[in-house]
Amino acid sequence: MIANYEKLKEKVQELAVLGSISNVLGWDARVNMPPKGNALRAQQSSYLAGIIHKKITSREMGKLLSALNKEVEAGSLTEEQALNVRKLTENFEKETKLPTTFVEEKSAVTSLANQAWVEARSIDDFSKFQPHLEKIVELCRREAGYFGFTGHPYNALHQLYEPSMTVEKLDAVFNQLRPFLVNLADRVIAEGKTYKPIEGKFPLDKQRELVKKVAGLLGFDFTAGRLDVSPHPFTVPFCSNDVRITTAYKEDNPFDALKSAIHETGHGLYEQGLPAEHFGMPLGEAASLGLHESQSKLWENHIGRSAEFWSYMLPALAETFPEFRSVKLKDWMRQVNKVERSLIRIKADEVTYNLHIILRYEIEKGLMEDNIQVKNLPEVWNNKMQEYVGIIPDKNANGVLQDVHWSMGAIGYFPTYTLGTIYAAQFFAQASKELPLAERVAAGQFQDLREWLREKVHRHGKKYSVDDLVKRVTGSPLNAQPLMDYLEAKYAPL
Ligand code: CO
Repeated sequence: MIANYEKLKEKVQELAVLGSISNVLGWDARVNMPPKGNALRAQQSSYLAGIIHKKITSREMGKLLSALNKEVEAGSLTEEQALNVRKLTENFEKETKLPTTFVEEKSAVTSLANQAWVEARSIDDFSKFQPHLEKIVELCRREAGYFGFTGHPYNALHQLYEPSMTVEKLDAVFNQLRPFLVNLADRVIAEGKTYKPIEGKFPLDKQRELVKKVAGLLGFDFTAGRLDVSPHPFTVPFCSNDVRITTAYKEDNPFDALKSAIHETGHGLYEQGLPAEHFGMPLGEAASLGLHESQSKLWENHIGRSAEFWSYMLPALAETFPEFRSVKLKDWMRQVNKVERSLIRIKADEVTYNLHIILRYEIEKGLMEDNIQVKNLPEVWNNKMQEYVGIIPDKNANGVLQDVHWSMGAIGYFPTYTLGTIYAAQFFAQASKELPLAERVAAGQFQDLREWLREKVHRHGKKYSVDDLVKRVTGSPLNAQPLMDYLEAKYAPL
């Protein structure tokens, strides 16, 4: 007789294979597919999603898990097995809490909402999106009800991305961070140091070569991954031995592609560092979205925007592009770390970025509480932009309509970006205590940092809760102080 745990493992790994096929299709759609392939690809993906959902929520799976939970209680499983069973049970319960009719309704509503959002943004007309967003907010409130929650209903939605994080904890760190960032941005911008932007045309083939070299230097394993081109850079794993990252190139600015590639390399290193022997099981998966983002932000900001990194990289850049031969490190640092009052989140600098996120978080919470009405969103948005970032959008397309998330029904996602920057600063501060990082980075040596992250973070998968993991590694759970210290030290003198 095959033990129940082996049966479970077989089933879950079959699901992981299906999930990886779905990821191959998604990657191909964003990297290779011609526009007319869209219709069939949508069918293929939803067909697979249907099969996966059916298998995850099957009665057989439920029976198997309840038998295994008895074995956990009886103590007949190993610690690792028990952990996998517990996490898979949580996942099963979550998946089965939503009635099929609700899942179908949400899928239909968001599909229309996404089309409406694309149109509303292109013609700058919020009223085209408003009724769709009203439906989505109503669906999200119902969804929170199905999942159940303690405390704020927002917890139920946010925890889909960041398990065990709560509004109370988010409020505490965001209320600490927001006034600090507003003040720091004011100070840095008032200082108004100028620099001469580097102008030129930088051939894409040379950019590609350079970007690939840097990703490899940081430790991305090209025998277990690829770097391709897509308009919006992303990372998608098929398994830890095949991780796909992308970047986007601009002819007039080589830093753009490099910065995105370093960000995605950070995500890619996490995926490549997950334990392959736990493929498909919780122990083989990333701990949370916030933690994932911490890996990309650590490499992008703490390495890729640091003076040490550029003291090493600037000569390499000048070798590839003669325009950079006369560029001084100090001026280049000001350029890659320019702080400005800008409208678009994804283009925001390190200092103002989290203000864009906190604004979205406060709005989402208000929508869930019914303290903010969808019809008033442009006004609420613009007021908060004025107050936090110090600039009012010229049009809604550059304001409340700029992000895709709400049209997809993903309320509760945004805070993971800021959590990523907070965890990144915590990890980096700790790594700097344990390793001679400044020296190594200035010498173009990144393997120590990569191994440190692999050992402390990557290889554990979901073994620890995020709070426990961050505490194990840094001695403290979620804590915004290292981020504030880092930003103050870096930007005040720039
Ligand atoms: Co990211």
